[in-house]
Amino acid sequence: MSTSLQGKHIILGITGGIAAYKSVVLLRLLVKAGADVQVVITPNGKEFITPVTLSALSGKPVVSEFFTANSGEWHSHVDLGLWADAMVVAPATASSIAKMANGVADNMLITTYLSAKAPVFVAPAMDLDMMAHPSTTRNIELLRSYGNHIIEPAAGELASHLVGKGRMEEPENIVAVLESFFAKSESLSGRRILITAGPTIERIDPVRYISNFSSGKMGYAIAEEAAARGAEVTLVSGPVDLRPRHSRIRLVKVESAIEMLRACEEAFPACDTAIMSAAVADYAPSEPYTCKIKRERDGVDSIALRKNPDIAATLGAIKTPGQRLVGFALETDNAIDNGAEKLARKHLDMIVVNSLADSGAGFGTDTNKVTLLFADGRPAEAFSLKSKADVAKDILDAVERL
Ligand code: PMT
Repeated sequence: MSTSLQGKHIILGITGGIAAYKSVVLLRLLVKAGADVQVVITPNGKEFITPVTLSALSGKPVVSEFFTANSGEWHSHVDLGLWADAMVVAPATASSIAKMANGVADNMLITTYLSAKAPVFVAPAMDLDMMAHPSTTRNIELLRSYGNHIIEPAAGELASHLVGKGRMEEPENIVAVLESFFAKSESLSGRRILITAGPTIERIDPVRYISNFSSGKMGYAIAEEAAARGAEVTLVSGPVDLRPRHSRIRLVKVESAIEMLRACEEAFPACDTAIMSAAVADYAPSEPYTCKIKRERDGVDSIALRKNPDIAATLGAIKTPGQRLVGFALETDNAIDNGAEKLARKHLDMIVVNSLADSGAGFGTDTNKVTLLFADGRPAEAFSLKSKADVAKDILDAVERL
């Protein structure tokens, strides 16, 4: 049976926890699905499972030390990191998670993780109290924030015979996560997607500006997900503290709405889809001061504003029948009605409505709660509060169906 794992290079990282026995099954399933698996095991991992079993099942010597003791042969974690299409750390103990989160490169597995260019999946396994400890929670959140995929542990009976959350996810489910990841990684291949993100800033004088609270998190999450699905992404971003990670993302930094418009007009004709998640300032000072405004000298008590161009509406007016245009609507009240009005007025194919009335949604947060509205009359889709990374997945699933 052909699976999306066929021929994929997978590093299976095994750390020192009792769930290491499940890694044997995981390894067998990965090999059965056609993956080429290289096991990297920590010194403690070898206390739980022998390298002989793992090398017999993977058909390759297991890597554990930086050097082979008798020959002095050096094992290159850099080469391994480049070879991999994905790395899976299962089980991931609290201590290895802490090392991964903080770059403590004291064994071959952690150095390989730090060198890996491929996506990394982490399947924590530990006792319930260790799992619930704030340091573990923080380290897992750190790993997530670096773009790693966390395969949440299940609740059930643990090695300590206590019952709670901490059981490593079953090998079959880990394989299913990887299969669905690789199936998706091709789904936008060959597509070009323009994404806008962050705020625009409109200068009043050389030291002051008008802007808004957009952090860029939503737009950057969409860019990462689109690139992970194989798209070539042009990310036009206002000033934010984020950097794109994926090599298929081309970043175009802009400051004002006018600059964002120019960058979008240049990129859009070559794109299949544009997703406008930026919070564009609707107004800019009509005549920005060239010198700092001085209270005593200039006596300014009001600033004349002009309307900025509507970038989404501009693209909506020039889009061709083959292109798809997706907008956002950030509302505080009557979210759905206002979103529907913007969908029609800006000639969008889909609009992502989010509301500041929902806690955890909108500006700056790591989460969002969205409803998707469509121009072709299909029913609206409302989603619960999720991480922005997961919201990006929902949005791109819908874009793929457009
Ligand atoms: O960046 P984060 O902190 O993660 O926050 C995410 C977000 C709240 C910024 C994002 O989810 C969002 O809602 N983005 C759109 C914000 C917004 O400007 O909404 P709007 O309702 O004012 O604009 C409607 C649409 O027209 C948007 O697609 C916007 O990009 C676009 N627009 C608006 C004004 C303008 N002059 N030109 C535009 O293209």
